[in-house]
Amino acid sequence: MADTASPPREQWGSRIGLILAMAGNAVGLGNFLRFPRQAVDNGGGTFMIPYFIAFLLVGIPLMWIEWGVGRYGGVRGQGSTPGMFDALWKNPVAKYLGVLGLFMPVIVLIYYCYIESWTLAWTFFSLTGQTQGLDQTGMSSFFQSYVDLENGSIHGFWVPFGFFFATIAVNFWVVSKGLTAGIEKLAKIGMPILFFFAVVLVIRVLTLDPVTTTHLGVTTTQGPMDGLRFMYTPDWSALASPKVWLAATGQIFFTLSVGMGSLQAYASYLTKKDDLVLSGIATAATNETAEVVLGGSLAIPAVVTFFGVAGAVAVAKGGSFDLGFISMPLVFNSLPGGPLVAGAAGVMWFGLLFFAGITSSVSMATPALAFVEENFGWKRKRTAWTLAAIALLLGILHIVYNTRGFLDEWDYWAGTFGLVILALVETIIFVWIFGPDNAWKELHEGASMRIPAFYKPIITYVTPAFLLIMMIWWTVQDAIPTLMMTGVPAENVPVKWASRGVMVAILLFQLWMIRTAWARKAASGRDA
Ligand code: PHE
Repeated sequence: MADTASPPREQWGSRIGLILAMAGNAVGLGNFLRFPRQAVDNGGGTFMIPYFIAFLLVGIPLMWIEWGVGRYGGVRGQGSTPGMFDALWKNPVAKYLGVLGLFMPVIVLIYYCYIESWTLAWTFFSLTGQTQGLDQTGMSSFFQSYVDLENGSIHGFWVPFGFFFATIAVNFWVVSKGLTAGIEKLAKIGMPILFFFAVVLVIRVLTLDPVTTTHLGVTTTQGPMDGLRFMYTPDWSALASPKVWLAATGQIFFTLSVGMGSLQAYASYLTKKDDLVLSGIATAATNETAEVVLGGSLAIPAVVTFFGVAGAVAVAKGGSFDLGFISMPLVFNSLPGGPLVAGAAGVMWFGLLFFAGITSSVSMATPALAFVEENFGWKRKRTAWTLAAIALLLGILHIVYNTRGFLDEWDYWAGTFGLVILALVETIIFVWIFGPDNAWKELHEGASMRIPAFYKPIITYVTPAFLLIMMIWWTVQDAIPTLMMTGVPAENVPVKWASRGVMVAILLFQLWMIRTAWARKAASGRDA
Protein backbone atom coordinates (compact mmCIF):
# COMPACT_ATOMS: atom_id res chain seq x y z
CA MET A 1 0.00 0.00 0.00
CA ALA A 2 1.42 3.33 -1.00
CA ASP A 3 1.32 6.28 1.37
CA THR A 4 0.20 8.46 -1.48
CA ALA A 5 0.71 12.20 -1.76
CA SER A 6 1.50 13.54 1.67
CA PRO A 7 -0.57 16.56 2.72
CA PRO A 8 1.12 19.93 2.10
CA ARG A 9 3.56 20.86 4.87
CA GLU A 10 2.48 23.28 7.51
CA GLN A 11 3.92 26.78 7.37
CA TRP A 12 4.41 29.49 9.93
CA GLY A 13 1.35 31.71 10.18
CA SER A 14 3.10 35.06 10.19
CA ARG A 15 6.53 36.61 10.27
CA ILE A 16 6.09 37.87 13.81
CA GLY A 17 4.88 34.43 14.87
CA LEU A 18 7.94 32.86 13.29
CA ILE A 19 10.33 35.27 14.99
CA LEU A 20 8.64 34.81 18.36
CA ALA A 21 8.72 31.02 18.00
CA MET A 22 12.38 31.06 17.01
CA ALA A 23 13.23 33.47 19.83
CA GLY A 24 11.19 31.28 22.14
CA ASN A 25 13.27 28.33 21.06
CA ALA A 26 16.52 30.14 21.79
CA VAL A 27 15.57 32.11 24.92
CA GLY A 28 15.36 29.55 27.69
CA LEU A 29 16.59 28.49 31.07
CA GLY A 30 20.07 28.91 29.61
CA ASN A 31 19.65 32.68 29.48
CA PHE A 32 18.50 33.22 33.04
CA LEU A 33 20.08 30.38 35.03
CA ARG A 34 23.02 29.00 33.07
CA PHE A 35 24.50 32.24 31.77
CA PRO A 36 24.99 34.14 35.06
CA ARG A 37 26.60 31.15 36.69
CA GLN A 38 28.91 30.45 33.75
CA ALA A 39 30.00 34.09 33.65
CA VAL A 40 30.75 34.27 37.36
CA ASP A 41 32.50 30.90 37.36
CA ASN A 42 34.71 31.65 34.38
CA GLY A 43 36.41 34.96 34.90
CA GLY A 44 33.47 37.39 35.11
CA GLY A 45 33.93 40.16 32.54
CA THR A 46 36.73 38.28 30.84
CA PHE A 47 34.30 35.48 30.02
CA MET A 48 32.54 37.92 27.74
CA ILE A 49 35.53 38.08 25.38
CA PRO A 50 35.59 34.41 24.30
CA TYR A 51 31.81 34.47 24.57
CA PHE A 52 31.53 37.29 22.06
CA ILE A 53 34.16 35.78 19.75
CA ALA A 54 32.33 32.46 19.77
CA PHE A 55 29.09 34.31 19.05
CA LEU A 56 30.58 36.00 15.98
CA LEU A 57 32.57 33.08 14.61
CA VAL A 58 30.30 30.12 15.31
CA GLY A 59 27.03 31.37 16.81
CA ILE A 60 25.87 33.61 13.98
CA PRO A 61 27.21 31.37 11.17
CA LEU A 62 25.54 28.29 12.67
CA MET A 63 22.30 30.17 13.06
CA TRP A 64 22.29 30.87 9.31
CA ILE A 65 23.56 27.41 8.40
CA GLU A 66 20.81 25.74 10.41
CA TRP A 67 18.10 27.93 8.94
CA GLY A 68 19.50 27.11 5.51
CA VAL A 69 19.74 23.37 6.15
CA GLY A 70 16.25 23.36 7.65
CA ARG A 71 14.54 25.18 4.82
CA TYR A 72 16.37 23.20 2.17
CA GLY A 73 15.07 20.01 3.77
CA GLY A 74 11.62 21.37 4.51
CA VAL A 75 10.97 22.42 0.96
CA ARG A 76 11.70 18.77 0.10
CA GLY A 77 9.33 17.47 2.77
CA GLN A 78 12.00 16.76 5.40
CA GLY A 79 11.54 18.15 8.89
CA SER A 80 14.47 16.48 10.66
CA THR A 81 18.19 16.17 10.04
CA PRO A 82 18.30 12.59 8.66
CA GLY A 83 16.19 13.68 5.69
CA MET A 84 17.87 17.08 5.45
CA PHE A 85 21.38 15.63 5.30
CA ASP A 86 20.19 13.05 2.82
CA ALA A 87 18.80 15.81 0.59
CA LEU A 88 22.02 17.82 0.76
CA TRP A 89 24.43 14.93 0.36
CA LYS A 90 23.64 11.97 -1.84
CA ASN A 91 25.50 9.46 0.24
CA PRO A 92 23.99 6.56 2.17
CA VAL A 93 25.71 7.60 5.42
CA ALA A 94 24.24 11.12 5.40
CA LYS A 95 20.91 10.03 6.87
CA TYR A 96 22.62 8.10 9.65
CA LEU A 97 24.73 11.11 10.60
CA GLY A 98 21.44 12.96 10.86
CA VAL A 99 20.47 10.74 13.80
CA LEU A 100 22.24 13.28 16.02
CA GLY A 101 19.52 15.82 15.30
CA LEU A 102 16.88 13.35 16.45
CA PHE A 103 18.75 11.90 19.37
CA MET A 104 19.93 15.03 21.14
CA PRO A 105 16.63 16.92 21.15
CA VAL A 106 14.82 13.90 22.60
CA ILE A 107 17.43 13.39 25.31
CA VAL A 108 17.61 17.06 26.25
CA LEU A 109 13.83 17.43 26.06
CA ILE A 110 13.35 14.89 28.83
CA TYR A 111 15.67 16.35 31.42
CA TYR A 112 14.92 19.92 30.38
CA CYS A 113 11.23 19.29 31.06
CA TYR A 114 12.20 17.95 34.47
CA ILE A 115 13.97 21.21 35.36
CA GLU A 116 11.13 23.13 33.74
CA SER A 117 8.75 21.32 36.07
CA TRP A 118 10.61 22.80 39.03
CA THR A 119 9.90 26.30 37.70
CA LEU A 120 6.22 25.38 37.48
CA ALA A 121 6.34 24.05 41.03
CA TRP A 122 8.03 27.18 42.37
CA THR A 123 5.54 29.42 40.57
CA PHE A 124 2.88 27.53 42.48
CA PHE A 125 4.82 27.69 45.77
CA SER A 126 5.20 31.46 45.32
CA LEU A 127 1.50 31.86 44.63
CA THR A 128 0.55 29.90 47.72
CA GLY A 129 3.22 31.59 49.84
CA GLN A 130 4.99 28.35 50.79
CA THR A 131 8.48 29.83 50.61
CA GLN A 132 7.54 32.88 52.65
CA GLY A 133 9.33 33.48 55.92
CA LEU A 134 11.91 30.77 55.27
CA ASP A 135 15.49 31.58 56.18
CA GLN A 136 18.60 30.34 54.37
CA THR A 137 18.50 26.89 55.98
CA GLY A 138 14.75 26.60 55.58
CA MET A 139 14.87 27.55 51.91
CA SER A 140 17.66 25.16 51.23
CA SER A 141 15.84 22.26 52.94
CA PHE A 142 12.71 23.18 51.00
CA PHE A 143 14.68 22.79 47.77
CA GLN A 144 16.58 19.65 48.80
CA SER A 145 13.46 17.86 49.86
CA TYR A 146 11.97 18.52 46.43
CA VAL A 147 14.91 17.46 44.28
CA ASP A 148 15.96 14.48 46.38
CA LEU A 149 13.26 11.84 46.40
CA GLU A 150 14.68 10.11 49.45
CA ASN A 151 14.34 13.28 51.47
CA GLY A 152 10.63 13.46 52.24
CA SER A 153 11.02 15.96 55.07
CA ILE A 154 8.94 18.68 53.39
CA HIS A 155 7.50 17.47 50.10
CA GLY A 156 5.89 14.07 49.62
CA PHE A 157 7.47 12.07 46.84
CA TRP A 158 4.40 12.58 44.63
CA VAL A 159 4.96 16.35 44.48
CA PRO A 160 7.88 16.31 41.98
CA PHE A 161 6.10 13.61 39.99
CA GLY A 162 2.93 15.66 39.87
CA PHE A 163 4.64 18.77 38.55
CA PHE A 164 6.65 16.75 36.05
CA PHE A 165 3.53 15.04 34.70
CA ALA A 166 1.80 18.40 34.43
CA THR A 167 4.77 19.89 32.57
CA ILE A 168 4.90 17.02 30.09
CA ALA A 169 1.13 17.23 29.61
CA VAL A 170 1.20 20.96 28.83
CA ASN A 171 4.18 20.60 26.49
CA PHE A 172 2.64 17.84 24.44
CA TRP A 173 -0.80 19.39 24.50
CA VAL A 174 0.79 22.42 22.82
CA VAL A 175 2.68 20.41 20.21
CA SER A 176 -0.29 18.14 19.54
CA LYS A 177 -2.16 21.21 18.29
CA GLY A 178 0.35 21.65 15.50
CA LEU A 179 2.65 24.39 14.36
CA THR A 180 0.51 27.51 14.13
CA ALA A 181 -2.28 26.62 16.56
CA GLY A 182 0.15 25.19 19.11
CA ILE A 183 3.75 26.32 19.01
CA GLU A 184 3.24 29.68 17.35
CA LYS A 185 0.35 30.58 19.60
CA LEU A 186 2.31 29.62 22.70
CA ALA A 187 5.16 31.89 21.58
CA LYS A 188 2.80 34.78 20.91
CA ILE A 189 1.42 34.52 24.43
CA GLY A 190 4.49 33.36 26.33
CA MET A 191 7.21 35.59 24.91
CA PRO A 192 5.56 38.94 25.70
CA ILE A 193 4.79 37.71 29.24
CA LEU A 194 8.37 36.54 29.66
CA PHE A 195 9.83 39.86 28.51
CA PHE A 196 7.37 41.84 30.60
CA PHE A 197 8.21 39.90 33.78
CA ALA A 198 11.92 40.13 33.04
CA VAL A 199 11.85 43.90 32.50
CA VAL A 200 9.82 44.54 35.66
CA LEU A 201 12.20 42.39 37.70
CA VAL A 202 15.31 44.00 36.20
CA ILE A 203 13.97 47.45 37.07
CA ARG A 204 13.19 46.33 40.62
CA VAL A 205 16.60 44.72 41.06
CA LEU A 206 18.59 47.62 39.65
CA THR A 207 16.76 50.16 41.83
CA LEU A 208 17.32 48.26 45.07
CA ASP A 209 18.80 50.27 47.92
CA PRO A 210 22.17 49.07 49.17
CA VAL A 211 21.98 46.59 52.01
CA THR A 212 24.42 46.01 54.87
CA THR A 213 25.14 42.36 55.50
CA THR A 214 27.49 40.23 57.52
CA HIS A 215 28.91 37.12 55.93
CA LEU A 216 31.32 35.00 57.94
CA GLY A 217 31.98 37.88 60.30
CA VAL A 218 32.69 40.47 57.59
CA THR A 219 30.25 43.36 57.39
CA THR A 220 29.77 45.10 54.04
CA THR A 221 27.28 47.36 52.34
CA GLN A 222 26.50 46.70 48.71
CA GLY A 223 23.87 47.40 46.08
CA PRO A 224 22.95 46.06 42.64
CA MET A 225 25.81 47.95 40.97
CA ASP A 226 28.26 45.99 43.09
CA GLY A 227 26.58 42.90 41.71
CA LEU A 228 27.14 44.04 38.15
CA ARG A 229 30.71 44.95 39.01
CA PHE A 230 31.21 41.51 40.52
CA MET A 231 29.74 39.77 37.50
CA TYR A 232 31.82 41.77 35.05
CA THR A 233 35.09 42.16 36.95
CA PRO A 234 37.71 40.93 34.50
CA ASP A 235 40.02 38.12 35.50
CA TRP A 236 42.55 38.31 32.70
CA SER A 237 44.23 35.03 33.59
CA ALA A 238 41.02 33.35 32.49
CA LEU A 239 41.61 34.32 28.88
CA ALA A 240 44.47 31.83 28.54
CA SER A 241 42.49 28.99 30.06
CA PRO A 242 41.07 26.39 27.65
CA LYS A 243 38.37 25.67 30.20
CA VAL A 244 37.03 29.20 29.84
CA TRP A 245 36.98 29.04 26.04
CA LEU A 246 35.10 25.76 26.20
CA ALA A 247 32.65 27.17 28.73
CA ALA A 248 32.05 30.27 26.60
CA THR A 249 31.60 28.27 23.39
CA GLY A 250 29.38 25.79 25.20
CA GLN A 251 27.21 28.62 26.48
CA ILE A 252 26.88 30.12 22.99
CA PHE A 253 25.79 26.75 21.63
CA PHE A 254 23.30 26.05 24.36
CA THR A 255 21.77 29.49 24.50
CA LEU A 256 21.35 29.89 20.75
CA SER A 257 20.00 26.31 20.49
CA VAL A 258 22.51 25.53 17.73
CA GLY A 259 23.97 22.09 17.13
CA MET A 260 20.80 20.42 18.35
CA GLY A 261 18.38 19.85 15.50
CA SER A 262 15.54 21.97 16.78
CA LEU A 263 16.28 25.17 14.83
CA GLN A 264 16.51 23.12 11.65
CA ALA A 265 13.12 21.59 12.41
CA TYR A 266 11.55 25.03 12.91
CA ALA A 267 13.25 26.32 9.77
CA SER A 268 11.82 23.42 7.77
CA TYR A 269 8.45 25.17 7.91
CA LEU A 270 9.80 28.18 6.00
CA THR A 271 9.23 28.79 2.33
CA LYS A 272 11.50 29.96 -0.47
CA LYS A 273 10.06 33.41 0.01
CA ASP A 274 11.17 33.73 3.61
CA ASP A 275 14.13 35.88 4.53
CA LEU A 276 16.62 33.68 6.39
CA VAL A 277 19.29 36.31 6.64
CA LEU A 278 17.25 38.89 8.49
CA SER A 279 15.17 36.48 10.56
CA GLY A 280 18.24 34.49 11.60
CA ILE A 281 20.12 37.52 12.79
CA ALA A 282 17.01 38.92 14.50
CA THR A 283 16.65 35.69 16.45
CA ALA A 284 20.30 35.71 17.49
CA ALA A 285 20.10 39.37 18.53
CA THR A 286 16.92 38.83 20.56
CA ASN A 287 18.51 35.92 22.36
CA GLU A 288 21.66 37.87 23.19
CA THR A 289 19.66 40.82 24.50
CA ALA A 290 17.63 38.50 26.69
CA GLU A 291 20.79 36.82 27.90
CA VAL A 292 23.29 39.60 28.48
CA VAL A 293 21.00 42.52 29.24
CA LEU A 294 18.19 40.77 31.10
CA GLY A 295 19.74 37.48 32.26
CA GLY A 296 22.88 39.32 33.38
CA SER A 297 20.94 41.91 35.40
CA LEU A 298 18.77 39.62 37.49
CA ALA A 299 20.11 36.85 39.67
CA ILE A 300 23.63 38.12 40.31
CA PRO A 301 22.91 41.76 41.22
CA ALA A 302 19.95 40.68 43.34
CA VAL A 303 21.93 38.09 45.26
CA VAL A 304 24.98 40.31 45.73
CA THR A 305 22.79 43.07 47.16
CA PHE A 306 21.28 40.87 49.83
CA PHE A 307 24.10 38.45 50.55
CA GLY A 308 27.21 40.34 49.55
CA VAL A 309 29.85 39.28 47.08
CA ALA A 310 31.19 36.59 49.40
CA GLY A 311 27.70 35.19 49.84
CA ALA A 312 27.13 35.18 46.08
CA VAL A 313 30.42 33.38 45.48
CA ALA A 314 29.36 30.73 47.97
CA VAL A 315 26.06 30.30 46.15
CA ALA A 316 27.62 30.19 42.70
CA LYS A 317 30.01 27.49 43.87
CA GLY A 318 27.05 25.45 45.13
CA GLY A 319 24.76 23.50 42.84
CA SER A 320 23.75 24.83 39.43
CA PHE A 321 20.31 25.67 40.65
CA ASP A 322 20.92 27.16 44.09
CA LEU A 323 21.03 30.64 42.63
CA GLY A 324 17.60 30.42 41.02
CA PHE A 325 15.71 28.25 43.48
CA ILE A 326 17.23 29.07 46.86
CA SER A 327 18.79 32.52 46.70
CA MET A 328 16.19 34.26 44.57
CA PRO A 329 13.23 33.35 46.80
CA LEU A 330 15.31 34.51 49.78
CA VAL A 331 15.92 37.81 47.99
CA PHE A 332 12.17 38.14 47.37
CA ASN A 333 11.46 37.55 51.05
CA SER A 334 13.79 40.45 51.88
CA LEU A 335 12.22 42.91 49.44
CA PRO A 336 10.55 45.91 51.04
CA GLY A 337 6.78 45.57 50.84
CA GLY A 338 6.06 42.34 52.63
CA PRO A 339 4.48 39.04 51.60
CA LEU A 340 2.50 40.43 48.69
CA VAL A 341 5.60 41.80 46.99
CA ALA A 342 7.56 38.64 47.77
CA GLY A 343 4.81 36.49 46.27
CA ALA A 344 4.45 38.66 43.17
CA ALA A 345 8.20 38.72 42.58
CA GLY A 346 8.35 34.93 42.96
CA VAL A 347 5.52 34.43 40.50
CA MET A 348 7.25 36.72 38.00
CA TRP A 349 10.67 35.08 38.36
CA PHE A 350 9.51 31.48 38.20
CA GLY A 351 6.79 32.33 35.71
CA LEU A 352 9.36 33.88 33.40
CA LEU A 353 11.54 30.80 33.78
CA PHE A 354 8.59 28.57 33.00
CA PHE A 355 7.70 30.45 29.82
CA ALA A 356 11.36 30.61 28.82
CA GLY A 357 11.54 26.86 29.38
CA ILE A 358 8.36 25.73 27.67
CA THR A 359 8.91 27.77 24.51
CA SER A 360 12.27 25.95 24.28
CA SER A 361 11.13 22.46 25.19
CA VAL A 362 8.36 22.36 22.59
CA SER A 363 11.05 23.01 20.00
CA MET A 364 12.98 19.96 21.17
CA ALA A 365 9.96 17.76 20.57
CA THR A 366 9.60 18.96 16.98
CA PRO A 367 12.32 16.98 15.12
CA ALA A 368 11.21 13.57 16.39
CA LEU A 369 7.56 14.34 15.71
CA ALA A 370 8.31 15.51 12.19
CA PHE A 371 10.44 12.41 11.59
CA VAL A 372 7.75 9.95 12.63
CA GLU A 373 4.94 11.76 10.84
CA GLU A 374 6.84 12.15 7.60
CA ASN A 375 8.37 8.71 7.45
CA PHE A 376 5.76 6.51 9.06
CA GLY A 377 2.62 8.42 8.18
CA TRP A 378 1.48 8.87 11.77
CA LYS A 379 -0.90 11.67 12.66
CA ARG A 380 0.26 14.56 14.80
CA LYS A 381 -1.83 13.72 17.88
CA ARG A 382 -0.85 10.08 18.00
CA THR A 383 2.82 10.94 17.54
CA ALA A 384 2.72 13.65 20.19
CA TRP A 385 1.09 11.50 22.85
CA THR A 386 3.37 8.56 22.11
CA LEU A 387 6.43 10.73 22.58
CA ALA A 388 4.84 12.18 25.71
CA ALA A 389 4.48 8.68 27.15
CA ILE A 390 8.13 7.90 26.41
CA ALA A 391 9.24 11.19 27.95
CA LEU A 392 7.17 10.48 31.06
CA LEU A 393 8.61 7.02 31.54
CA LEU A 394 12.20 8.08 31.02
CA GLY A 395 11.67 11.23 33.07
CA ILE A 396 10.87 9.04 36.07
CA LEU A 397 14.47 7.85 36.01
CA HIS A 398 15.63 11.44 36.31
CA ILE A 399 13.33 12.13 39.23
CA VAL A 400 14.41 8.99 41.05
CA TYR A 401 18.14 9.18 40.35
CA ASN A 402 18.54 12.95 40.21
CA THR A 403 20.97 13.17 43.10
CA ARG A 404 23.07 10.29 41.76
CA GLY A 405 24.29 11.95 38.57
CA PHE A 406 21.82 10.43 36.10
CA LEU A 407 20.91 13.80 34.64
CA ASP A 408 24.49 15.06 34.42
CA GLU A 409 25.39 12.30 31.97
CA TRP A 410 22.60 13.28 29.60
CA ASP A 411 23.41 16.94 29.99
CA TYR A 412 27.05 16.36 29.20
CA TRP A 413 26.80 14.02 26.20
CA ALA A 414 23.67 15.34 24.55
CA GLY A 415 23.49 18.88 25.92
CA THR A 416 27.14 19.89 25.65
CA PHE A 417 29.57 17.64 23.81
CA GLY A 418 27.10 16.38 21.20
CA LEU A 419 26.25 19.92 20.09
CA VAL A 420 29.74 20.53 18.73
CA ILE A 421 29.71 17.26 16.84
CA LEU A 422 26.41 17.93 15.11
CA ALA A 423 27.51 21.49 14.37
CA LEU A 424 30.70 20.25 12.75
CA VAL A 425 28.93 17.57 10.73
CA GLU A 426 26.24 19.91 9.42
CA THR A 427 28.75 22.64 8.57
CA ILE A 428 30.82 20.19 6.55
CA ILE A 429 27.76 18.82 4.77
CA PHE A 430 26.19 22.20 4.02
CA VAL A 431 29.24 24.31 3.29
CA TRP A 432 31.75 21.86 1.89
CA ILE A 433 29.82 18.97 0.39
CA PHE A 434 26.80 20.91 -0.79
CA GLY A 435 29.32 23.59 -1.68
CA PRO A 436 30.08 27.13 -0.48
CA ASP A 437 28.50 28.78 -3.51
CA ASN A 438 25.36 26.68 -3.31
CA ALA A 439 25.12 27.30 0.42
CA TRP A 440 25.57 31.04 -0.05
CA LYS A 441 22.92 31.09 -2.74
CA GLU A 442 20.51 29.03 -0.65
CA LEU A 443 20.87 31.38 2.31
CA HIS A 444 20.03 34.38 0.15
CA GLU A 445 16.97 32.85 -1.46
CA GLY A 446 14.11 35.17 -0.56
CA ALA A 447 16.36 37.49 1.44
CA SER A 448 15.98 41.25 1.19
CA MET A 449 19.41 41.92 2.66
CA ARG A 450 22.77 40.32 1.98
CA ILE A 451 25.09 38.72 4.49
CA PRO A 452 28.26 40.88 4.62
CA ALA A 453 30.72 39.38 2.13
CA PHE A 454 33.42 38.76 4.75
CA TYR A 455 31.14 36.17 6.30
CA LYS A 456 31.60 33.87 3.32
CA PRO A 457 35.23 32.99 4.13
CA ILE A 458 34.29 32.89 7.81
CA ILE A 459 31.53 30.35 7.20
CA THR A 460 33.67 28.38 4.77
CA TYR A 461 36.92 28.19 6.73
CA VAL A 462 36.86 29.85 10.11
CA THR A 463 33.68 28.28 11.49
CA PRO A 464 34.65 24.68 10.62
CA ALA A 465 38.21 25.22 11.86
CA PHE A 466 36.97 26.73 15.10
CA LEU A 467 34.57 23.81 15.56
CA LEU A 468 37.25 21.25 14.83
CA ILE A 469 39.68 22.78 17.30
CA MET A 470 36.94 23.00 19.93
CA MET A 471 35.97 19.41 19.38
CA ILE A 472 39.53 18.14 19.79
CA TRP A 473 40.08 20.35 22.79
CA TRP A 474 36.83 19.24 24.34
CA THR A 475 37.64 15.59 23.80
CA VAL A 476 41.02 15.81 25.47
CA GLN A 477 40.14 18.21 28.23
CA ASP A 478 36.70 17.00 29.19
CA ALA A 479 35.17 14.15 27.27
CA ILE A 480 37.81 11.53 28.03
CA PRO A 481 37.89 12.26 31.78
CA THR A 482 34.09 12.32 31.81
CA LEU A 483 33.95 9.04 29.93
CA MET A 484 36.34 7.47 32.40
CA MET A 485 34.23 8.89 35.24
CA THR A 486 37.27 10.51 36.82
CA GLY A 487 36.36 11.75 40.28
CA VAL A 488 32.88 10.20 40.31
CA PRO A 489 32.00 8.78 43.75
CA ALA A 490 31.95 4.98 43.54
CA GLU A 491 28.32 4.69 44.60
CA ASN A 492 27.21 6.76 41.60
CA VAL A 493 29.09 4.75 38.99
CA PRO A 494 26.33 2.14 38.40
CA VAL A 495 23.70 4.87 38.02
CA LYS A 496 25.88 6.67 35.50
CA TRP A 497 26.39 3.51 33.50
CA ALA A 498 22.66 2.90 33.50
CA SER A 499 22.16 6.47 32.37
CA ARG A 500 24.51 5.89 29.43
CA GLY A 501 22.87 2.57 28.66
CA VAL A 502 19.51 4.23 28.24
CA MET A 503 21.02 6.83 25.92
CA VAL A 504 22.70 4.17 23.79
CA ALA A 505 19.44 2.23 23.58
CA ILE A 506 17.62 5.33 22.34
CA LEU A 507 20.35 6.04 19.81
CA LEU A 508 20.24 2.50 18.43
CA PHE A 509 16.47 2.56 18.25
CA GLN A 510 16.55 5.78 16.26
CA LEU A 511 19.20 4.43 13.89
CA TRP A 512 16.96 1.44 13.32
CA MET A 513 14.01 3.75 12.62
CA ILE A 514 16.07 5.60 10.03
CA ARG A 515 17.03 2.35 8.35
CA THR A 516 13.43 1.18 8.32
CA ALA A 517 12.18 4.50 6.97
CA TRP A 518 14.62 4.49 4.07
CA ALA A 519 13.93 0.84 3.32
CA ARG A 520 10.23 1.68 3.09
CA LYS A 521 10.94 4.62 0.81
CA ALA A 522 13.01 2.43 -1.46
CA ALA A 523 10.27 -0.20 -1.54
CA SER A 524 7.49 2.27 -2.31
CA GLY A 525 9.72 3.85 -4.96
CA ARG A 526 9.99 0.45 -6.66
CA ASP A 527 6.24 -0.14 -6.42
CA ALA A 528 5.44 3.14 -8.11
N1 PHE B 1 18.50 27.66 24.02
C1 PHE B 1 17.75 27.08 25.08
C2 PHE B 1 18.12 27.76 26.38
O1 PHE B 1 18.84 28.71 26.41
C3 PHE B 1 18.00 25.62 25.20
C4 PHE B 1 17.81 24.86 23.94
C5 PHE B 1 18.85 24.17 23.39
C6 PHE B 1 16.59 24.84 23.29
C7 PHE B 1 18.69 23.48 22.20
C8 PHE B 1 16.40 24.14 22.12
C9 PHE B 1 17.46 23.46 21.58
O2 PHE B 1 17.69 27.34 27.43
